[in-house]
Amino acid sequence: MGGMRIGLLTGGGDCPGLNAVIRAVVLTAHLVHHDETVGFADGWRGVLDGDVVDLDVDRVRDIISQGGTILHTSRTNPFGVEDGPAKVAANLAKHGVDVLVAIGGEDTLGAAFKLHETGVRVIGVPKTIDNDLSATEVTFGFDTAVEIATEAIDRLRTTAESHHRVIVCEVMGRHAGWIATYAGIAGGAADILVPEEPFDLAEVCDRLRIRHRSGCFSSIVVVSEGAMPAGAEDLEAARRATSSPSAAVDQFGHARLGGIGGWLAAEIERRTGYESRVTILGHIQRGGTPTAFDRVLATRFGVAAVSAAHAGAFGSMVALHCGEIVRVPLADAVGASKRLDLHLYHDVAGALRG
Ligand code: F6P
Repeated sequence: MGGMRIGLLTGGGDCPGLNAVIRAVVLTAHLVHHDETVGFADGWRGVLDGDVVDLDVDRVRDIISQGGTILHTSRTNPFGVEDGPAKVAANLAKHGVDVLVAIGGEDTLGAAFKLHETGVRVIGVPKTIDNDLSATEVTFGFDTAVEIATEAIDRLRTTAESHHRVIVCEVMGRHAGWIATYAGIAGGAADILVPEEPFDLAEVCDRLRIRHRSGCFSSIVVVSEGAMPAGAEDLEAARRATSSPSAAVDQFGHARLGGIGGWLAAEIERRTGYESRVTILGHIQRGGTPTAFDRVLATRFGVAAVSAAHAGAFGSMVALHCGEIVRVPLADAVGASKRLDLHLYHDVAGALRG
């Protein structure tokens, strides 16, 4: 197909590298295929409301190093509003969109897959700092988040050492421990706690005691925002103690996480007597300039998405497999989250604990 009109949207939490994808799609579409491009503002919200953004070569030339997304984003679910799919179809037709490139994580791509089943021509591009999307080895944004968290751990270590403290560093990842595991290994954390493996607080404290008795009087504990202590009672107590002021749930049903780090630091101090502090990295992990790795991966995904559109590979997602960019069915990406590599967690991170 030549001379298409390609729509673009970025949905869900923002992620370093989104602008690199947008740039690659627009430049490839215009300069290689003589296509037109149109952006939709705020993810699915813009498609539902017909809120379009001009996207041409001049607009995207210099955005590869910018964090965030020039299209802006939201967690709007087109299946969560009345007549959502019909509105999407009507607005795509109104704006002459031949194919929609949806850049997002499991929620955005889940909606894209369902829309594809109703006849919408869609290509998916995987993004999330959490790295929990199936059918691709890695998502762009993850490398940047790990770099930021690792640098934070390095900085926390020197102040922890100066004061003989335990510092709990809470990282993002929702229900996936990828960021915690990678940054914890890279930063040489004393302990790493992830959502996939409920932790025993007594054991965490014992490991810290052994470490401190052996002459290390400071420790960094990396905890994923979705990590929880084992046992329903503890879990309830932790949830109560850590729930954010508004127990907000987004349109895809995700509760806002965060706060386990504060509870953990207080418990460690109470049980061990070691002075403890917490640092919650939060959205610092998502903001700012992407690493070179993420820029390159995002660019490769963007170029491949335009090729997929011209090949008529609707309902597919571009993905990274063994270093190559491939196309996979969207269905494979959205069925289930990508599990944490438990070998990495137990045999690498676990072996070096303490
Ligand atoms: O999915 C990416 C992510 O950053 C998660 O790690 C985190 O739980 C969530 O988004 C935070 O979302 P929000 O920006 O809506 O608070």
